[in-house]
Amino acid sequence: MKRFNLKTVLLVGAALALQVAAVWGAAPRTSGAGNALADLHTALGVTCASCHGTAKVAAVDDSERSINVTCVGCHGNLDAMAAQARAGSHVNPHKSHLGDINCTVCHMGHVQSKAYCTNCHAFAMKIPAGDPVPQKPAPKAAKKAAVKQRVERADVVVIGAGAAGMTAAITAHDAGARVILIEKQPITGGNSMLAAGGMNAAGTRFQKAKGIADSVELMYQDTMKGGGNIGDPALVRVLAKESAGSVDWLTSLGADISDVGRMGGASVNRTHRPKGGAAVGAHIAGVLKKNAVQRRIDIRLNSKVVKLIEDNKGRITGVQVEGKHSGLYTIKAKAVVLTAGGFSANADKVAFYRPEYKGMTTSNQPGATGDGMDLGAKAGGELKDMKEIQIHPTVAAGSRILITEAVRGNGAILVNHEGKRFVNELTTRDKASAAILAQTGKSAYLVFDEGIRKSLKQIDGYFHLELVKEGATIQELAAAINVPATVLEATVASYNAAFDGKSDPDFKRPDIPRPIRTARYYAIEVKPGVHYTMGGLKINADGQVLAASGTPMAGLFAAGEVTGGVHGNNRLGGNSISETITFGRIAGASAAKLVKGGAKK
Ligand code: SIN
Repeated sequence: MKRFNLKTVLLVGAALALQVAAVWGAAPRTSGAGNALADLHTALGVTCASCHGTAKVAAVDDSERSINVTCVGCHGNLDAMAAQARAGSHVNPHKSHLGDINCTVCHMGHVQSKAYCTNCHAFAMKIPAGDPVPQKPAPKAAKKAAVKQRVERADVVVIGAGAAGMTAAITAHDAGARVILIEKQPITGGNSMLAAGGMNAAGTRFQKAKGIADSVELMYQDTMKGGGNIGDPALVRVLAKESAGSVDWLTSLGADISDVGRMGGASVNRTHRPKGGAAVGAHIAGVLKKNAVQRRIDIRLNSKVVKLIEDNKGRITGVQVEGKHSGLYTIKAKAVVLTAGGFSANADKVAFYRPEYKGMTTSNQPGATGDGMDLGAKAGGELKDMKEIQIHPTVAAGSRILITEAVRGNGAILVNHEGKRFVNELTTRDKASAAILAQTGKSAYLVFDEGIRKSLKQIDGYFHLELVKEGATIQELAAAINVPATVLEATVASYNAAFDGKSDPDFKRPDIPRPIRTARYYAIEVKPGVHYTMGGLKINADGQVLAASGTPMAGLFAAGEVTGGVHGNNRLGGNSISETITFGRIAGASAAKLVKGGAKK
C-alpha cells in the first residue's frame, strides 16, 4: 500500500488540530467504550449537552445528520475546513471525491471509527478520533424488544444507495411511490462513486454531435462478444436499447456526460464522461444524491438490511433493518428493490468462487461484500454466473487505486519490465489481465505522455497520489522505472509509427488516438485486481428477481451489480454505470407500478 510523505499535510482544520495536539500531546487518550471523540471534547470543556442537546435521551439518528449539523456549527462545513489547508499541502483530507459527507464518517464518537478515505488510500496521518476502537456488542435482549416496538411503512424500500439504488429511488418516487432508501455505509455512492472511465451508450446526441456512427445493434454485439456470448440476450438488448435514453435522463437531472471516449472491447467511441475527461462516478453519484435530497427521499445511512420479510405466500412484504443507533426495526413495503452491489471487497467470497484470486487486491469500496445477493438468495432468488469475477488489469501496484482504462483508451501503452509492449491495450479486461500476469513480476507499466495526460482530467489525480514516475525524455523515464532505455525508445518509436500509419501490425490495437511524443513522459506501475462480479441474482427485463423455477418473485426487484446476466463472463469498461442507470430506472418503475396496482406481481 502506498504511503505518503505528508510533512505538509494539514490534518484537520487548524483550530481542532491545535487543540488535539495539545490534548493528545499531554496525555494520549483512549476509551475502552470507544468514546474517543467524546473524550476529546470533554477534555476541551465541551459537554455532552453541547453536542446532543439537553433532552433526557440524547438520541442520534442512524444517518447522523443532526449531530453533523452541530459539528458543522462549531467547525464549519467541509469546504470551510478544506479552505484552511496550509499552502502547499499535498493532500487535503477535507476535499475529496466523496462529496459532502458527514463529519462523523471519519471522526466518530461512540462507535468504531476509521477515516473513510483510508479504506482505499494509506495516509500517514493522525485523524482525531479516527482510529478503530473496540466495540461493545449490543445487548441481545434490547434488540428483541426493539423489533417488537418499531414497525414503519413505505411503498418501496430500496437497498443500497449506489447509482442503481439512487436511480431506482428517484424513478419510483417520481412515479408517485413513497420510497425509503437504505444504505449500510456511512455515505451514499457505493462503488459507483469510484467509477472512472464513463458510461457506455449508443446513438446518443453527444455521439451524433461528434459524428460517431453507433447503433443499438453494435453495442449489443460488442457486449455479447465481450462477455463470451454467455450474457442474457434479452438483458443485453435492454442495456443497449435504453442506453441513449439513460444518458438523456441523467442529463435532465443535471449530469454532464458530454465527452465521448473509448474503452476496451468497444467498436466505436461510446463511453460518455464529463467534459475534459473527469471521472464519471463521483460526478454522477453527486448528481443523483442531489436529486434524491431535493425530492426529500428518505435516505437512511448506517442502516443494514438483515432480512427480507415474506408473507405466507412467499411475497416479499418488507425488510428488517439494523440501524447503527436505533437497532433492529421493520419496514413493511409493497415492493423491495435490491441494489446492494457486488462482492469484490469480500475476499472470502471471492476466494470461495475463484480460489486462484485469493489475496489479490481490489479496486472496490469496503461495502462491496455481496450482502444483497445473500439476502435475495435466502429469500429464494436464483443466483447465476457467480464464478464470473472480473480482474481489472490496471490497479496501481501496491494500492487499491484503479487506473482507468480510459488512459489506455486515450492512447497509453502497456509495457513490461523488459520495456516491450505485449498486448493490444484495448482488448477486453480478461485478456489484458491475463497478459499482465504472464509478465515478469506479474505487473506492467502504463506509459503515456503530456498529450495523453492533457486529454483526460482524471489523470491529474494519479499525480496527486504520487503514483506516477516521469522523465523529460523516454531515456529518463526508462531510468526512472528501471527498464532498458534503448528497448523502451524502440517500443515507443514503433507505436508512434503505428499511429502515423493508422495500423498496429504488432498487436492489432484497433484505435490509436494519440502518439507518445510530447514531453514529459510518464509511467504508472499496474497490477491486476478484483474489480467486478458479473454474477448475481437472476432478473428479467422488467427488473423482477427470478426464483429457481424461472418465475418472478412477487414484490422483489433488483438492478446493478447485485444482479447477474448482463455482462456474461466479462464486463466491458463503461457498461457498469450504463447498467446501473438503465436497470435502476427499470426496477424503480416496475416497483412503483406494482405499488400503484398496475402490475401483476
Ligand atoms: C475504468 O475506468 O477502467 C473502470 C470503469 C468500469 O469498470 O467500467
